[in-house]
Amino acid sequence: MKRVKCSLLALLTLVIGLGVCNAQDGIITPAPNIANWGNASLDISEGLSLYIDAPTAERARLIHATEELGVSVKVVKRPAKRGYLNLAIVAETDIAEVSAFTSFAEGYTLDITTKGVDIKATTANGLYYGLQSLRELITHSTTLTTGHLCDAPRFEYRGILVDISRHFRTKEFLMRQIDMMAQMKMNRLHLHLTDAAGWRIEVESYPRLTTYAAWRIPHTWKEWWNGDRNFVEQGTEGAYGGYLTKADAKELVAYASDRYITIIPEIEMPGHSDEVIAVYPELGCSHKPERQGDLCIGKEATFEMMQAILDEIIEIFPSEYIHIGGDEAGKGSWKECDDCKRRMQEEGLESVDELQSYMIQRIEKYLNARGRQIIGWDEILEGGLAPNATVMSWRGEEGGLAAAATGHKVVMSPHGYCYIDAPQDAPYSQPESIGGYLPLEKVYSYDPAPTTMDSAVAQYIMGVQANLWAEFIVTDDHYEHMLWPRAIAIAEIGWSNPQRRDFTDFRQRAVKIVDRMLEMGYKPFDLKNEIGNRPESLEPVEHLAIGKRVEYLYPSRYYGPKYAAAGDATLTDGLRGTWTYADMRWQGFLGRGGVDVVIDMEETTHIESISADFMQICGPGVFMPCLVEIGISDDGEEWEVIAEIEHEVVLDELPSFKSFGWEGSVDTRYIRYKAHRSKYTGFLFVDEIVVR
Ligand code: ACM
Ligand code: ZN
Repeated sequence: MKRVKCSLLALLTLVIGLGVCNAQDGIITPAPNIANWGNASLDISEGLSLYIDAPTAERARLIHATEELGVSVKVVKRPAKRGYLNLAIVAETDIAEVSAFTSFAEGYTLDITTKGVDIKATTANGLYYGLQSLRELITHSTTLTTGHLCDAPRFEYRGILVDISRHFRTKEFLMRQIDMMAQMKMNRLHLHLTDAAGWRIEVESYPRLTTYAAWRIPHTWKEWWNGDRNFVEQGTEGAYGGYLTKADAKELVAYASDRYITIIPEIEMPGHSDEVIAVYPELGCSHKPERQGDLCIGKEATFEMMQAILDEIIEIFPSEYIHIGGDEAGKGSWKECDDCKRRMQEEGLESVDELQSYMIQRIEKYLNARGRQIIGWDEILEGGLAPNATVMSWRGEEGGLAAAATGHKVVMSPHGYCYIDAPQDAPYSQPESIGGYLPLEKVYSYDPAPTTMDSAVAQYIMGVQANLWAEFIVTDDHYEHMLWPRAIAIAEIGWSNPQRRDFTDFRQRAVKIVDRMLEMGYKPFDLKNEIGNRPESLEPVEHLAIGKRVEYLYPSRYYGPKYAAAGDATLTDGLRGTWTYADMRWQGFLGRGGVDVVIDMEETTHIESISADFMQICGPGVFMPCLVEIGISDDGEEWEVIAEIEHEVVLDELPSFKSFGWEGSVDTRYIRYKAHRSKYTGFLFVDEIVVR
């Protein structure tokens, strides 16, 4: 009888927690998983008496966290009778309702009564997150509504990748982002420390990585990448760059740890290593420094160097995980290299994929022997996954799912939802970027482990991470603009259960957080000014050619294959493109011949306008046409040209969209639309030929 009562009570709590809306809802982000609000209140404007029942080692961190609550806090030796804030680490059985969550270790309960505030957790991390919730309530008002929260994260890994290779960022900048991450209950900062454009962490045994490979003359990555890709000696006049000294990095690790955030360092190998080969050419296959990105796996010197570097890295970073990269190796030089070929023969490796896997497995063994685990990009699956590796799935979810299916842990950061280097609003309103379109709503819509996922696989999904690559992000302000508020969506995906997630509610909270960040001097994207998706794309368009057959004349039938959209149906399916050509609505034509298509209207039709939109995004090589010709015909053989529209293609940093069309009055069965490529080599993208 007792058991039944208990579970009924638990069920009731859950239902109330999920169902009742209260003015207090809408304050805490990420949305707490169970929140029951009362009717009374507690005025804490005079401050709180803090009593901590936790190990000495945690006291200083927790006291520090209470100093950021926004009210005065006095530490006391015994719990106060009124106006108290009691923090206690308790046994699992004392907060059984939190222990019911799968990932309870960071969970907490928070009780606000008319007398004071109690936060209980099984770990100091949990107490810290309870304090973050309290902090948000206090930011809203120092008169707290009574209530009970029972909260724990959905996933144990809630992270952000910060790329400080392409453009260096200081420890002070990183600390500012850590502050915000901690408030949003995020717990992993993945530092992308090394890549082609610069090495950013001091290594005593290989000093030239930072006295040389951390400095260049061009400020922008674009100029450097499109130029000679050289480095210069530190101290050279005009040298641009920088790196974290060991002391900086240790300070950063401690700062993050005080906020219950683990820094995971990434040392890229064997690809994305141009800067290493620039200073140690003997580690490339050809012994030449120019434009080689892959380390030679045939040479023992490569392993000696990487292991020596990792020895120093693990001395700085206490994280369980060391990220070893593993992505986007070209692998071409290995096929030509005697050393690599010998290695393959000696080790019985049948492909360059297996050669890469050999390196990753050897590095894994090295790190495992030193008590660490490796995590790598999903390419480390190719050629055979290292036995204990964790996979970070970025090219989509497939790699992650394949790894999870074989019992490997996975962090999901699929490109389509988690690559926040894409612009978050109408691209013309945003700073230059790598392209695409990833608004807050799309990030928020991501679920790393939906109910449709096999639970045997889902149990290996550790969590979720936003990746902010910095090729096009020169300034700190721009970096913050890209990071926030989308990283808050990642925080909520990582923390709140799907039943607690609601985009309309989240967006309202995010707007307020952005306002608060602006007041604090951050430079987030100002969400309340969001323009939104391309208006044309919001509803299907009606016109006379919908569903009509389109013939692709030679050579324009070479559209795609990656940008085929809906194939031959694309240009008359009524679906207009969004801000990104990767949306499967824009069709991409790469051939020299541009676009040359004929629409068969099936019968003679009265027509007053014909038009099509093109986009231009110079970075990835998408250009406007230089000439559009529109023709009509009764038999599809003899053509009358009714429009010739010339266009001067001007290179521009920001994306643009332009319509090329004709207006008049004709009767015709066939319509020919021909768009010529300019002198710039690249794609033409068109979404629809609209006939009215
Ligand atoms: C990656 O974006 N190359 C991991
Ligand atoms: Zn080699």
